[in-house]
Amino acid sequence: MNNFTYYNPTKLIFGKGQLEALTTEVPTYGKKVLVVYGGGSIKRNGVYDNVMAKLNEIGAEVHELSGVEPNPRVTTARRGIEICKKEGIEFLLAVGGGSTIDCTKAIAAGAKSDADIWDIVTKKAEVTGALPFGTVLTIAATGSEMNRGSVITNWELNEKHGWGSPYTSPKFSILDPAHTMSVPRDQTVYGMVDIMSHVLEHYFHHTSNTPIQDRFCEGILRTVIETAPKLLSDLENYEYRETIMLSGTLALNDMLNMGYHGDWATHNLEHAVSAVHDIPHGGGLAILFPHWMNHVMDENVDRFKQLAIRVFDVDSNGKSDQDVAKEGIARLREFWNSIGAPDKLADYDIDASTVSKMADKTVVVRPEYGNFMKLNKEDSEKIYQASL
Ligand code: NZQ
Ligand code: ZN
Repeated sequence: MNNFTYYNPTKLIFGKGQLEALTTEVPTYGKKVLVVYGGGSIKRNGVYDNVMAKLNEIGAEVHELSGVEPNPRVTTARRGIEICKKEGIEFLLAVGGGSTIDCTKAIAAGAKSDADIWDIVTKKAEVTGALPFGTVLTIAATGSEMNRGSVITNWELNEKHGWGSPYTSPKFSILDPAHTMSVPRDQTVYGMVDIMSHVLEHYFHHTSNTPIQDRFCEGILRTVIETAPKLLSDLENYEYRETIMLSGTLALNDMLNMGYHGDWATHNLEHAVSAVHDIPHGGGLAILFPHWMNHVMDENVDRFKQLAIRVFDVDSNGKSDQDVAKEGIARLREFWNSIGAPDKLADYDIDASTVSKMADKTVVVRPEYGNFMKLNKEDSEKIYQASL
Protein backbone atom coordinates (compact mmCIF):
# COMPACT_ATOMS: atom_id res chain seq x y z
CA MET A 1 0.00 0.00 0.00
CA ASN A 2 0.98 3.62 -0.34
CA ASN A 3 0.91 6.00 2.60
CA PHE A 4 -2.44 7.68 3.06
CA THR A 5 -4.50 9.98 5.26
CA TYR A 6 -8.18 9.27 5.51
CA TYR A 7 -10.57 12.01 6.52
CA ASN A 8 -14.26 12.07 5.68
CA PRO A 9 -16.13 14.86 7.43
CA THR A 10 -19.67 13.93 6.29
CA LYS A 11 -22.01 12.84 9.07
CA LEU A 12 -23.94 9.86 7.71
CA ILE A 13 -27.47 9.62 9.13
CA PHE A 14 -28.93 6.34 7.90
CA GLY A 15 -32.28 4.59 8.30
CA LYS A 16 -36.03 4.80 8.58
CA GLY A 17 -37.43 8.14 9.79
CA GLN A 18 -34.04 9.83 9.91
CA LEU A 19 -35.43 12.93 8.17
CA GLU A 20 -36.20 14.11 11.69
CA ALA A 21 -32.47 14.92 12.01
CA LEU A 22 -33.05 17.98 9.78
CA THR A 23 -34.51 19.76 12.80
CA THR A 24 -31.28 19.44 14.76
CA GLU A 25 -28.72 19.59 11.95
CA VAL A 26 -29.88 22.56 9.87
CA PRO A 27 -30.12 25.18 12.66
CA THR A 28 -26.39 24.71 13.38
CA TYR A 29 -25.63 26.34 10.03
CA GLY A 30 -28.25 29.06 9.67
CA LYS A 31 -31.88 29.88 8.98
CA LYS A 32 -31.74 31.04 5.36
CA VAL A 33 -31.91 27.79 3.45
CA LEU A 34 -31.87 27.11 -0.30
CA VAL A 35 -33.53 23.78 -1.06
CA VAL A 36 -32.20 22.34 -4.33
CA TYR A 37 -34.04 19.57 -6.19
CA GLY A 38 -34.63 17.99 -9.59
CA GLY A 39 -37.51 17.54 -11.98
CA GLY A 40 -40.26 16.83 -9.48
CA SER A 41 -39.93 13.22 -8.25
CA ILE A 42 -39.74 14.53 -4.68
CA LYS A 43 -43.11 16.22 -5.10
CA ARG A 44 -44.70 13.00 -6.36
CA ASN A 45 -43.33 10.73 -3.62
CA GLY A 46 -44.00 13.05 -0.69
CA VAL A 47 -40.36 13.74 0.25
CA TYR A 48 -40.74 17.44 -0.62
CA ASP A 49 -43.67 17.91 1.77
CA ASN A 50 -41.87 16.10 4.57
CA VAL A 51 -38.69 18.16 4.12
CA MET A 52 -40.63 21.42 4.04
CA ALA A 53 -42.54 20.44 7.21
CA LYS A 54 -39.24 19.90 9.04
CA LEU A 55 -37.82 23.21 7.80
CA ASN A 56 -41.01 25.02 8.87
CA GLU A 57 -40.73 23.42 12.29
CA ILE A 58 -37.39 25.16 12.85
CA GLY A 59 -38.61 28.45 11.39
CA ALA A 60 -36.25 28.40 8.41
CA GLU A 61 -36.53 31.03 5.66
CA VAL A 62 -36.81 28.70 2.69
CA HIS A 63 -35.81 29.49 -0.90
CA GLU A 64 -36.00 26.94 -3.72
CA LEU A 65 -34.10 25.98 -6.85
CA SER A 66 -35.92 23.28 -8.81
CA GLY A 67 -35.36 21.64 -12.17
CA VAL A 68 -31.80 20.37 -11.72
CA GLU A 69 -31.30 18.13 -14.76
CA PRO A 70 -29.91 14.59 -14.71
CA ASN A 71 -26.33 15.37 -15.86
CA PRO A 72 -26.67 18.79 -14.18
CA ARG A 73 -25.92 21.86 -16.25
CA VAL A 74 -23.56 24.66 -15.34
CA THR A 75 -26.33 27.12 -16.24
CA THR A 76 -28.50 25.71 -13.42
CA ALA A 77 -25.62 25.99 -10.96
CA ARG A 78 -25.19 29.64 -12.01
CA ARG A 79 -28.88 30.28 -11.25
CA GLY A 80 -28.40 28.83 -7.78
CA ILE A 81 -25.27 30.90 -7.15
CA GLU A 82 -27.18 34.04 -8.07
CA ILE A 83 -29.94 33.21 -5.58
CA CYS A 84 -27.36 32.57 -2.83
CA LYS A 85 -25.59 35.87 -3.41
CA LYS A 86 -28.80 37.89 -3.74
CA GLU A 87 -30.62 36.37 -0.77
CA GLY A 88 -27.67 35.85 1.56
CA ILE A 89 -28.30 32.10 1.78
CA GLU A 90 -26.57 30.46 4.76
CA PHE A 91 -27.18 26.78 4.09
CA LEU A 92 -27.99 24.58 1.09
CA LEU A 93 -30.08 21.44 1.25
CA ALA A 94 -29.91 19.06 -1.72
CA VAL A 95 -32.93 16.77 -1.92
CA GLY A 96 -32.48 14.20 -4.69
CA GLY A 97 -29.87 12.11 -6.47
CA GLY A 98 -26.29 12.61 -7.57
CA SER A 99 -27.24 15.31 -10.08
CA THR A 100 -28.97 17.46 -7.47
CA ILE A 101 -26.14 16.95 -4.97
CA ASP A 102 -23.43 17.71 -7.57
CA CYS A 103 -25.24 20.87 -8.62
CA THR A 104 -25.51 21.88 -4.97
CA LYS A 105 -21.75 21.41 -4.53
CA ALA A 106 -21.18 23.74 -7.47
CA ILE A 107 -23.59 26.31 -6.04
CA ALA A 108 -21.92 26.06 -2.63
CA ALA A 109 -18.45 26.73 -4.08
CA GLY A 110 -19.64 29.33 -6.58
CA ALA A 111 -21.46 31.31 -3.90
CA LYS A 112 -18.15 31.89 -2.12
CA SER A 113 -16.18 32.87 -5.20
CA ASP A 114 -15.92 35.70 -7.72
CA ALA A 115 -14.87 33.26 -10.42
CA ASP A 116 -17.36 31.74 -12.85
CA ILE A 117 -18.29 28.23 -11.73
CA TRP A 118 -17.23 26.73 -15.06
CA ASP A 119 -13.70 28.03 -14.41
CA ILE A 120 -13.82 26.21 -11.08
CA VAL A 121 -15.10 23.00 -12.69
CA THR A 122 -12.34 23.15 -15.32
CA LYS A 123 -9.75 24.00 -12.66
CA LYS A 124 -8.85 27.38 -14.12
CA ALA A 125 -9.95 28.95 -10.83
CA GLU A 126 -9.41 27.57 -7.34
CA VAL A 127 -12.09 26.75 -4.83
CA THR A 128 -11.58 29.16 -1.96
CA GLY A 129 -14.51 28.14 0.23
CA ALA A 130 -18.09 26.90 0.06
CA LEU A 131 -21.40 27.44 1.78
CA PRO A 132 -22.22 24.56 4.13
CA PHE A 133 -24.69 22.08 2.70
CA GLY A 134 -26.47 18.84 3.58
CA THR A 135 -28.24 16.21 1.51
CA VAL A 136 -31.37 14.09 1.61
CA LEU A 137 -30.55 11.28 -0.81
CA THR A 138 -33.38 9.78 -2.88
CA ILE A 139 -31.55 7.37 -5.23
CA ALA A 140 -28.69 4.96 -4.58
CA ALA A 141 -25.98 5.43 -7.18
CA THR A 142 -23.18 7.98 -7.15
CA GLY A 143 -21.87 8.17 -3.59
CA SER A 144 -21.93 11.95 -3.95
CA GLU A 145 -23.68 12.04 -0.56
CA MET A 146 -20.42 11.18 1.19
CA ASN A 147 -17.66 12.48 -1.04
CA ARG A 148 -16.31 15.81 -2.19
CA GLY A 149 -16.71 15.20 -5.94
CA SER A 150 -19.15 16.79 -8.36
CA VAL A 151 -19.71 16.31 -12.08
CA ILE A 152 -21.06 19.24 -14.10
CA THR A 153 -22.05 19.48 -17.76
CA ASN A 154 -21.60 22.44 -20.07
CA TRP A 155 -24.11 21.66 -22.80
CA GLU A 156 -23.01 24.57 -25.02
CA LEU A 157 -19.45 23.17 -25.13
CA ASN A 158 -20.52 19.50 -24.93
CA GLU A 159 -18.20 18.97 -22.00
CA LYS A 160 -18.76 17.16 -18.71
CA HIS A 161 -16.10 17.25 -16.01
CA GLY A 162 -15.56 16.07 -12.48
CA TRP A 163 -14.07 18.38 -9.88
CA GLY A 164 -13.99 18.60 -6.11
CA SER A 165 -12.35 20.28 -3.17
CA PRO A 166 -11.88 19.89 0.56
CA TYR A 167 -14.75 22.39 0.95
CA THR A 168 -17.33 20.36 -0.96
CA SER A 169 -18.11 17.43 1.32
CA PRO A 170 -21.68 17.49 2.63
CA LYS A 171 -21.89 18.40 6.34
CA PHE A 172 -24.45 15.62 6.74
CA SER A 173 -26.38 13.24 4.55
CA ILE A 174 -29.71 11.70 5.46
CA LEU A 175 -30.21 8.28 3.88
CA ASP A 176 -33.64 6.78 4.46
CA PRO A 177 -33.99 3.76 2.15
CA ALA A 178 -37.76 4.41 2.08
CA HIS A 179 -36.97 7.56 0.06
CA THR A 180 -35.66 5.33 -2.74
CA MET A 181 -38.76 3.06 -2.99
CA SER A 182 -40.20 5.16 -5.83
CA VAL A 183 -37.09 5.01 -8.02
CA PRO A 184 -38.28 3.38 -11.26
CA ARG A 185 -36.82 0.12 -12.48
CA ASP A 186 -34.52 1.60 -15.14
CA GLN A 187 -33.01 4.18 -12.78
CA THR A 188 -32.60 1.46 -10.14
CA VAL A 189 -30.60 -0.57 -12.67
CA TYR A 190 -28.44 2.43 -13.67
CA GLY A 191 -27.77 3.10 -10.01
CA MET A 192 -26.63 -0.45 -9.33
CA VAL A 193 -24.39 -0.45 -12.42
CA ASP A 194 -22.85 2.84 -11.24
CA ILE A 195 -22.21 1.40 -7.77
CA MET A 196 -20.53 -1.70 -9.22
CA SER A 197 -18.55 0.48 -11.62
CA HIS A 198 -17.17 2.58 -8.77
CA VAL A 199 -15.96 -0.57 -7.06
CA LEU A 200 -14.47 -1.84 -10.33
CA GLU A 201 -12.70 1.50 -10.95
CA HIS A 202 -11.05 1.06 -7.55
CA TYR A 203 -10.23 -2.60 -8.15
CA PHE A 204 -7.91 -2.11 -11.11
CA HIS A 205 -4.58 -0.79 -9.85
CA HIS A 206 -0.98 -1.95 -9.61
CA THR A 207 -0.31 -1.30 -5.93
CA SER A 208 0.83 -4.41 -4.06
CA ASN A 209 -0.58 -5.77 -0.80
CA THR A 210 -4.17 -4.54 -0.71
CA PRO A 211 -5.87 -7.72 0.56
CA ILE A 212 -8.36 -5.97 2.85
CA GLN A 213 -9.33 -3.46 0.20
CA ASP A 214 -9.71 -6.27 -2.38
CA ARG A 215 -12.04 -8.22 -0.09
CA PHE A 216 -14.09 -5.11 0.71
CA CYS A 217 -14.50 -4.48 -3.03
CA GLU A 218 -15.35 -8.10 -3.77
CA GLY A 219 -17.83 -8.15 -0.87
CA ILE A 220 -19.70 -5.13 -2.20
CA LEU A 221 -19.74 -6.52 -5.74
CA ARG A 222 -21.06 -9.90 -4.59
CA THR A 223 -23.67 -8.22 -2.41
CA VAL A 224 -24.99 -6.06 -5.26
CA ILE A 225 -25.01 -9.06 -7.62
CA GLU A 226 -26.96 -11.08 -5.06
CA THR A 227 -29.42 -8.31 -4.17
CA ALA A 228 -30.09 -6.79 -7.62
CA PRO A 229 -32.45 -9.46 -9.01
CA LYS A 230 -34.36 -9.65 -5.73
CA LEU A 231 -34.81 -5.88 -5.62
CA LEU A 232 -35.86 -5.70 -9.27
CA SER A 233 -38.64 -8.18 -8.65
CA ASP A 234 -39.75 -6.34 -5.50
CA LEU A 235 -38.96 -2.63 -5.94
CA GLU A 236 -40.59 -1.59 -2.68
CA ASN A 237 -38.72 -4.02 -0.47
CA TYR A 238 -37.16 -1.91 2.28
CA GLU A 239 -34.35 -4.34 3.11
CA TYR A 240 -33.13 -4.68 -0.48
CA ARG A 241 -33.28 -0.89 -0.91
CA GLU A 242 -31.33 -0.55 2.34
CA THR A 243 -28.60 -2.91 1.17
CA ILE A 244 -28.18 -1.14 -2.16
CA MET A 245 -28.23 2.31 -0.55
CA LEU A 246 -25.39 1.46 1.84
CA SER A 247 -23.46 -0.22 -0.99
CA GLY A 248 -23.69 3.01 -3.01
CA THR A 249 -22.25 5.14 -0.25
CA LEU A 250 -19.43 2.74 0.63
CA ALA A 251 -18.49 2.33 -3.03
CA LEU A 252 -17.39 5.94 -3.36
CA ASN A 253 -16.64 7.48 0.01
CA ASP A 254 -12.90 6.78 -0.33
CA MET A 255 -13.00 3.92 2.15
CA LEU A 256 -12.29 1.25 -0.47
CA ASN A 257 -9.28 3.01 -1.97
CA MET A 258 -7.20 3.50 1.15
CA GLY A 259 -3.54 3.26 0.12
CA TYR A 260 -3.90 3.17 -3.67
CA HIS A 261 -5.44 4.92 -6.68
CA GLY A 262 -7.98 3.18 -8.85
CA ASP A 263 -8.22 3.53 -12.61
CA TRP A 264 -11.19 5.81 -13.54
CA ALA A 265 -10.71 5.69 -17.31
CA THR A 266 -14.18 4.25 -17.90
CA HIS A 267 -15.76 7.17 -16.05
CA ASN A 268 -13.85 9.56 -18.29
CA LEU A 269 -15.07 7.64 -21.34
CA GLU A 270 -18.67 7.71 -20.07
CA HIS A 271 -18.64 11.39 -19.19
CA ALA A 272 -17.59 12.13 -22.78
CA VAL A 273 -20.51 10.08 -24.12
CA SER A 274 -22.96 11.89 -21.81
CA ALA A 275 -21.46 15.27 -22.71
CA VAL A 276 -22.28 14.70 -26.36
CA HIS A 277 -25.44 12.57 -26.11
CA ASP A 278 -26.92 13.27 -22.64
CA ILE A 279 -27.46 9.63 -21.70
CA PRO A 280 -27.87 8.24 -18.14
CA HIS A 281 -24.47 7.76 -16.49
CA GLY A 282 -25.11 4.16 -15.35
CA GLY A 283 -26.40 3.18 -18.80
CA GLY A 284 -23.20 4.43 -20.40
CA LEU A 285 -21.02 2.61 -17.89
CA ALA A 286 -22.81 -0.70 -18.51
CA ILE A 287 -21.98 -0.38 -22.20
CA LEU A 288 -18.37 0.72 -21.83
CA PHE A 289 -16.91 -1.11 -18.82
CA PRO A 290 -16.54 -4.61 -20.28
CA HIS A 291 -14.96 -3.10 -23.43
CA TRP A 292 -12.46 -1.15 -21.34
CA MET A 293 -11.67 -4.42 -19.56
CA ASN A 294 -10.98 -6.26 -22.79
CA HIS A 295 -8.83 -3.36 -23.99
CA VAL A 296 -6.55 -3.28 -20.91
CA MET A 297 -6.68 -6.87 -19.62
CA ASP A 298 -3.10 -7.78 -20.57
CA GLU A 299 -1.76 -4.92 -18.47
CA ASN A 300 -2.21 -7.16 -15.39
CA VAL A 301 -4.18 -10.28 -16.11
CA ASP A 302 -3.91 -11.43 -12.49
CA ARG A 303 -6.31 -8.72 -11.29
CA PHE A 304 -8.87 -9.84 -13.85
CA LYS A 305 -8.35 -13.48 -12.93
CA GLN A 306 -8.85 -12.70 -9.25
CA LEU A 307 -12.09 -10.84 -10.03
CA ALA A 308 -13.35 -13.72 -12.17
CA ILE A 309 -12.71 -16.33 -9.50
CA ARG A 310 -13.69 -14.43 -6.39
CA VAL A 311 -16.68 -12.46 -7.65
CA PHE A 312 -18.02 -14.51 -10.55
CA ASP A 313 -17.08 -17.99 -9.29
CA VAL A 314 -15.28 -18.84 -12.53
CA ASP A 315 -13.77 -22.33 -12.36
CA SER A 316 -10.10 -21.89 -13.26
CA ASN A 317 -9.24 -25.58 -13.47
CA GLY A 318 -7.20 -26.40 -16.59
CA LYS A 319 -7.71 -22.93 -18.09
CA SER A 320 -5.14 -20.29 -18.99
CA ASP A 321 -5.07 -17.07 -16.94
CA GLN A 322 -6.29 -15.22 -20.02
CA ASP A 323 -9.27 -17.50 -20.47
CA VAL A 324 -10.27 -17.20 -16.82
CA ALA A 325 -9.98 -13.40 -17.00
CA LYS A 326 -12.08 -13.28 -20.19
CA GLU A 327 -14.73 -15.51 -18.66
CA GLY A 328 -15.00 -13.07 -15.74
CA ILE A 329 -15.53 -10.15 -18.12
CA ALA A 330 -18.17 -12.15 -20.00
CA ARG A 331 -19.94 -12.95 -16.71
CA LEU A 332 -20.06 -9.25 -15.83
CA ARG A 333 -21.66 -8.51 -19.19
CA GLU A 334 -24.12 -11.38 -18.73
CA PHE A 335 -25.07 -10.12 -15.28
CA TRP A 336 -25.70 -6.57 -16.46
CA ASN A 337 -27.72 -7.92 -19.41
CA SER A 338 -29.74 -10.05 -17.01
CA ILE A 339 -30.87 -6.99 -15.05
CA GLY A 340 -31.77 -5.10 -18.22
CA ALA A 341 -28.83 -2.71 -18.58
CA PRO A 342 -27.96 -1.54 -22.10
CA ASP A 343 -24.95 -3.19 -23.77
CA LYS A 344 -24.22 -1.16 -26.90
CA LEU A 345 -24.14 2.51 -27.87
CA ALA A 346 -26.77 1.75 -30.50
CA ASP A 347 -29.21 1.27 -27.60
CA TYR A 348 -29.04 5.08 -27.28
CA ASP A 349 -29.01 5.60 -31.07
CA ILE A 350 -25.33 6.46 -31.03
CA ASP A 351 -23.46 5.42 -34.16
CA ALA A 352 -19.93 5.76 -35.55
CA SER A 353 -20.51 9.36 -36.67
CA THR A 354 -19.74 10.83 -33.21
CA VAL A 355 -16.93 8.47 -32.14
CA SER A 356 -14.22 10.96 -33.01
CA LYS A 357 -16.04 13.83 -31.30
CA MET A 358 -16.51 11.79 -28.12
CA ALA A 359 -12.88 10.65 -28.21
CA ASP A 360 -11.80 14.30 -28.42
CA LYS A 361 -13.77 14.99 -25.25
CA THR A 362 -11.89 12.27 -23.35
CA VAL A 363 -8.64 14.19 -23.73
CA VAL A 364 -9.82 17.78 -23.23
CA VAL A 365 -8.31 18.04 -19.76
CA ARG A 366 -5.24 15.79 -20.25
CA PRO A 367 -3.81 14.04 -23.32
CA GLU A 368 -3.70 10.76 -21.36
CA TYR A 369 -6.03 9.36 -18.73
CA GLY A 370 -6.53 6.24 -16.59
CA ASN A 371 -4.22 4.96 -13.85
CA PHE A 372 -4.24 1.19 -14.49
CA MET A 373 -3.25 1.76 -18.11
CA LYS A 374 -2.65 5.15 -19.68
CA LEU A 375 -5.06 5.72 -22.55
CA ASN A 376 -5.06 8.34 -25.29
CA LYS A 377 -7.49 9.49 -27.94
CA GLU A 378 -6.75 6.49 -30.13
CA ASP A 379 -7.60 4.10 -27.28
CA SER A 380 -10.86 6.01 -26.70
CA GLU A 381 -11.80 5.54 -30.34
CA LYS A 382 -11.07 1.82 -30.21
CA ILE A 383 -13.18 1.34 -27.07
CA TYR A 384 -16.08 3.36 -28.54
CA GLN A 385 -15.87 1.43 -31.82
CA ALA A 386 -16.04 -1.86 -29.92
CA SER A 387 -19.06 -0.51 -28.01
CA LEU A 388 -21.16 0.49 -31.03
O1 NZQ B 1 -35.03 14.92 -11.27
P1 NZQ B 1 -36.01 14.09 -10.52
O2 NZQ B 1 -37.42 14.39 -10.84
O3 NZQ B 1 -35.73 14.07 -9.04
O4 NZQ B 1 -35.84 12.55 -11.05
C1 NZQ B 1 -34.64 11.82 -10.96
C2 NZQ B 1 -33.93 11.71 -12.30
O5 NZQ B 1 -34.83 11.74 -13.37
C3 NZQ B 1 -34.97 10.38 -10.65
N1 NZQ B 1 -35.12 10.11 -9.23
C4 NZQ B 1 -34.25 10.35 -8.23
N2 NZQ B 1 -34.76 9.94 -7.05
C5 NZQ B 1 -35.98 9.43 -7.32
C6 NZQ B 1 -36.22 9.55 -8.70
N3 NZQ B 1 -37.38 9.14 -9.28
C7 NZQ B 1 -38.30 8.61 -8.47
N4 NZQ B 1 -38.14 8.45 -7.13
C8 NZQ B 1 -36.99 8.84 -6.53
N5 NZQ B 1 -36.83 8.64 -5.20
O6 NZQ B 1 -33.86 9.65 -11.14
C9 NZQ B 1 -33.32 10.32 -12.26
C10 NZQ B 1 -31.82 10.34 -12.15
O7 NZQ B 1 -31.39 11.16 -11.10
P2 NZQ B 1 -29.87 11.61 -11.00
O8 NZQ B 1 -29.69 12.43 -9.79
O9 NZQ B 1 -29.44 12.17 -12.30
O10 NZQ B 1 -29.15 10.17 -10.82
P3 NZQ B 1 -27.78 9.78 -10.21
O11 NZQ B 1 -27.83 9.77 -8.73
O12 NZQ B 1 -27.39 8.55 -10.89
O13 NZQ B 1 -26.76 10.96 -10.62
C11 NZQ B 1 -26.13 10.98 -11.89
C12 NZQ B 1 -25.15 12.13 -11.98
O14 NZQ B 1 -24.09 12.01 -11.02
C13 NZQ B 1 -22.82 12.03 -11.70
C14 NZQ B 1 -23.16 11.46 -13.04
O15 NZQ B 1 -22.17 11.73 -13.99
C15 NZQ B 1 -24.48 12.17 -13.34
O16 NZQ B 1 -24.24 13.47 -13.77
N6 NZQ B 1 -21.82 11.32 -10.89
C16 NZQ B 1 -21.42 11.90 -9.74
C17 NZQ B 1 -20.45 11.35 -8.94
C18 NZQ B 1 -20.02 12.00 -7.68
N7 NZQ B 1 -20.41 13.24 -7.43
O17 NZQ B 1 -19.29 11.42 -6.88
C19 NZQ B 1 -19.77 10.11 -9.28
C20 NZQ B 1 -20.47 9.33 -10.33
O18 NZQ B 1 -19.56 8.47 -10.94
C21 NZQ B 1 -21.16 10.14 -11.39
O19 NZQ B 1 -20.27 10.52 -12.41
ZN1 ZN C 1 -20.21 6.73 -11.60
